[in-house]
Amino acid sequence: MTEYARRPAELATFEEFHNLPIERKINYWTRDGRPFHVVNSRQFTRGILEDLIDLTNKIRRIAKAKTGVEFLHSLLPHKRAMLFFKQPSTRTFLSFVSACDFLGISWAEVRDSGVSSEAKGETEDDSVRVFSSFFDVMIMRHPDSSSAERVAYIFDRIGRPIPVINGGAGPDEHPTQALLDVYTLDRSFERQGGIEGKKICFVGDCKRGRTVRSLARLLALYEGVELFFCAPKSLQVLPDVTDYLHTKNVKFTLLSELEPHLGEMDAFYMTRIQDEWDAKDRGNVNTPVDIGPYIFRERFLPMIKFGAIIMHPLPKRNEIEPAVDNDRRAMYWRQVRNGMWARSALLAYIFQRDDEIKRYFNKNT
Ligand code: NCD
Repeated sequence: MTEYARRPAELATFEEFHNLPIERKINYWTRDGRPFHVVNSRQFTRGILEDLIDLTNKIRRIAKAKTGVEFLHSLLPHKRAMLFFKQPSTRTFLSFVSACDFLGISWAEVRDSGVSSEAKGETEDDSVRVFSSFFDVMIMRHPDSSSAERVAYIFDRIGRPIPVINGGAGPDEHPTQALLDVYTLDRSFERQGGIEGKKICFVGDCKRGRTVRSLARLLALYEGVELFFCAPKSLQVLPDVTDYLHTKNVKFTLLSELEPHLGEMDAFYMTRIQDEWDAKDRGNVNTPVDIGPYIFRERFLPMIKFGAIIMHPLPKRNEIEPAVDNDRRAMYWRQVRNGMWARSALLAYIFQRDDEIKRYFNKNT
């Protein structure tokens, strides 16, 4: 019997499952030694990251030729994906759609519960159980932090082997964005000794920026990396992240201003103030915050290292001056494209098509 079919006692209720230590939950999300449900950035080991980076590079190269695109299309034409997005999204949504298209996966979307049976009073748990009859993978974005975890639990509980991929859950986690960010950093520092030992500065909303929270955890897997969190006091990174960094012996510093530290950094990870969470933040945030000290200005460009990069998960507002967009070190446009390749790699990996991709790559490129 597979681990999956055993339905252990811990799975009795979602609350019980939710309260398990993260290591135990990760076991449930893992099949054949690799992530099956992709819920939390802590599921990725350094080895898995290396495998995914390598696979992403291969897919990107294969897709340059028409025959390569045809090969990729032939990998998963028998799979169907559901994109269940209950929060605004353009790039994450489109990059998952493109990743599905590249691999031949057919897909459908529910983005508005006003047009689904939830409008008739159906619970979300029932809705996703219904979705599970039609699809082989569920990709979701949701305002609740435990949403992806809950759907994965429901599928496990009813015995449907459908992977759940978290495309952004509440202000907490965005593991696939962290994957594409690591991929972007890895590519950018290819000729500068890789990510190891680099100084990476998160700027803006370090508290509710789920991309910051997920990426900080992945970067803890790289030797000698030093992290900086530059944010107004009310939006500074939360203790669950800093405690994690402590346990991994990652050196980090909290900053309240960007400008004095420009010359030190290898990467700037700019973020938007996530004010959609203000109402839920129980008055903890002094909004409007003065974001002046957290804007990347055109005049900073000559002050940063020649090899430094400027990242942003997008969408951006005024936290980067538009003149910065055309600097060769502005990496945010490339991040979007990398997201499509990294998500293609993740889907291929979950459905165990990586060996086939490697064989094709070795023969044809
Ligand atoms: C981010 C998100 O949704 O968390 N966007 C994205 O997925 N690229 C960042 C943001 O909304 O600021």
